[in-house]
Amino acid sequence: MKVGLTYNIKKVRSHESGVRSQKNAEFNSELRTPNSEHISSLPPDFFAEWDDEDTIEAVRTALAGRHNVVMIEADENAYEKLKSFRPQIVFNIAEGLWGQSRESQIPAMLDMLRIPYTGSGPLSLGICLDKARAKEILMHHGIPTPKFTIYDLRFMNLKIGNRQSKIENLKPLSFPLIVKPLYEGSSKGVRNNSVVNNTAELKERAEWVIAEYKQPALVEEFLEGREFTVAMIGNGNDVKTLPIVEINYSSLPSGVNPIYSYEAKWIWDTPDNPLEIFKCPADIGNKLKKDIETVCKAAFNILDIKDWCRIDIRLDAKENPHILELNPLPGILPDPKSNSCFPKAARAAGMDYDKLINIVLDTACKRHGIAI
Ligand SMILES: Nc1ncnc2c1ncn2[C@@H]1O[C@H](COP(=O)(O)OP(=O)(O)OP(=O)(O)O)[C@@H](O)[C@H]1O
Ligand SMILES: [Mg+2]
Repeated sequence: MKVGLTYNIKKVRSHESGVRSQKNAEFNSELRTPNSEHISSLPPDFFAEWDDEDTIEAVRTALAGRHNVVMIEADENAYEKLKSFRPQIVFNIAEGLWGQSRESQIPAMLDMLRIPYTGSGPLSLGICLDKARAKEILMHHGIPTPKFTIYDLRFMNLKIGNRQSKIENLKPLSFPLIVKPLYEGSSKGVRNNSVVNNTAELKERAEWVIAEYKQPALVEEFLEGREFTVAMIGNGNDVKTLPIVEINYSSLPSGVNPIYSYEAKWIWDTPDNPLEIFKCPADIGNKLKKDIETVCKAAFNILDIKDWCRIDIRLDAKENPHILELNPLPGILPDPKSNSCFPKAARAAGMDYDKLINIVLDTACKRHGIAI
């Protein structure tokens, strides 16, 4: 079968090959922002979501074992390439280049060209990238998620309890809070000091997010309970959860906040010096496991997710699971030493990397009625 692979490659190179940390990154001088701003003026974690060469090559190799793979970089030429190559199906891992709906761009092109693809459609990808929109929908359906508000330049008023926010249906929030960019992933803009305990800290962090990431700041009540992440494969009533991963905060340097921050993901954890940050399968009783799986499956279907997704969960003081966010384009670093949740959960279920990628492809083929 002719399978397209759509991707965005990191336009930075590390001097130490294969290292996750973006310290010493060299910027590709050809890449410019839409305003012709030089790329080096962007935040240091600007590229964190895009895939590195090793990941793209690992996905290509996994698919090439069974199929004829056509590589399509998700740039401005992607539409023409998709139109002329016309793959029977596309394996989509493209995070997109610019804008609030960047993850939706390739799926929207594929819908227009009537080419089937793996994973969620443009609407679900766009909604999940805007964490507040996803939370509004979850709240509407009674799925627990931390209380929140957003701060936006257009509605700037940083006094809590006197806020002018787009979201009006919330009671005033209680400290501690966590402040993050509204539409980012890979812990971009989530730093150790993103947990705030008073109005002054909140103001400082919200202003930093807005200035650095040029987007609103999402402010949520901070849940101090255990954190889990749940890899899921399938569709509708047949969606299955892989073994649950727990985030092990005791592996973080002492004195830091118990969050899976940018520092924890990209600086303190390297293949040469890995943190024991994940426990998989998580050490949890049957009731909690069932509660977590129930909210994840409900959220997956309410947001109309397709084929695969990784959902982040944190417990409140009463051990009730809350949804932090959904990742319908989950990170999939191939090297087992680079802590990457989805491949780790798959390995715990007896699936190596090649098998994981092919199961996702087959799940999408089944959904589209394509004979494999
Ligand atoms: N409301 C909250 N309460 C407690 N911890 C939180 C909350 N929101 C975020 N965190 C912490 O911050 C981390 C990063 O937040 P979040 O998952 O929203 O960011 P992300 O950049 O989208 O992550 P990913 O790498 O999964 O895409 C979480 O894994 C968790 O440790
Ligand atoms: Mg997350």
